[in-house]
Amino acid sequence: MADKLIIGNWKMNTRRDSGKALIDALSASDITNQPWVGVAVPTVYLAQAAECLKGSRIALSSQDVSRFDKDGAFTGEVSAAMLKDAGCAYALVGHSERRQYFAEGNDALLSKMRHAIAAGVTPVLCVGETLEEREAGRYLDVVFSQLAILSELTAGDYVIAYEPVWAIGTGKVASLEQIAEIHSAIKNWCLQNAKASDKIRVLYGGSVKAENAESILATENVDGALVGGASLDADSFRMICQAAGKLI
Ligand code: PGA
Repeated sequence: MADKLIIGNWKMNTRRDSGKALIDALSASDITNQPWVGVAVPTVYLAQAAECLKGSRIALSSQDVSRFDKDGAFTGEVSAAMLKDAGCAYALVGHSERRQYFAEGNDALLSKMRHAIAAGVTPVLCVGETLEEREAGRYLDVVFSQLAILSELTAGDYVIAYEPVWAIGTGKVASLEQIAEIHSAIKNWCLQNAKASDKIRVLYGGSVKAENAESILATENVDGALVGGASLDADSFRMICQAAGKLI
């Protein structure tokens, strides 16, 4: 089985001291011998995190990337080239909170994916349906329409994270059957519609915790996890990474 990828998404949490303490705790633990691990820290702390992670196997990720690629008059934006320069290996793209609060849609997300790939930062495209869409039986159509931008890309160097919106930060986890069904559907869609699809990794996200990580990560076609709340606690995150390590 290929190495799993576990990315902690800190969202809009931590301060200079608490972020440093979290990274120091992760670096000091045996997490560095575990599968591929990344932390998506707030933009303002990326440089500090890169410094703390020097010599560590833990990769740095941003939580977003600009849809503009050329330097210039885009106040408040952070380009893919800047993220690369700051030490990011990954960039989250299209997290459901960005889609919900910043109205990010496929056009902007396609630009973000393109710029990240061109800059050498691996984008992690987040997809997932709302509870209403799930209950209406439309979840596959919704996810496929979010994946559609992948057929526009010529390179296959990206990761997908399936995160049902109703499972994010709610404590509600998709059942293993639901996860297996949609992960297999995503991979099949990619095989038919996207380039370099045999390499594509599909992570699961949504209330992943130390207690449920092993069974989720052992589910077919789950190549890792995107972890929100539980990634803010070094012990919980370490246990999730260890669960992934056992499955390699
Ligand atoms: P959660 O968040 O683990 O707190 O549910 C996951 C995410 O939003 O990436």
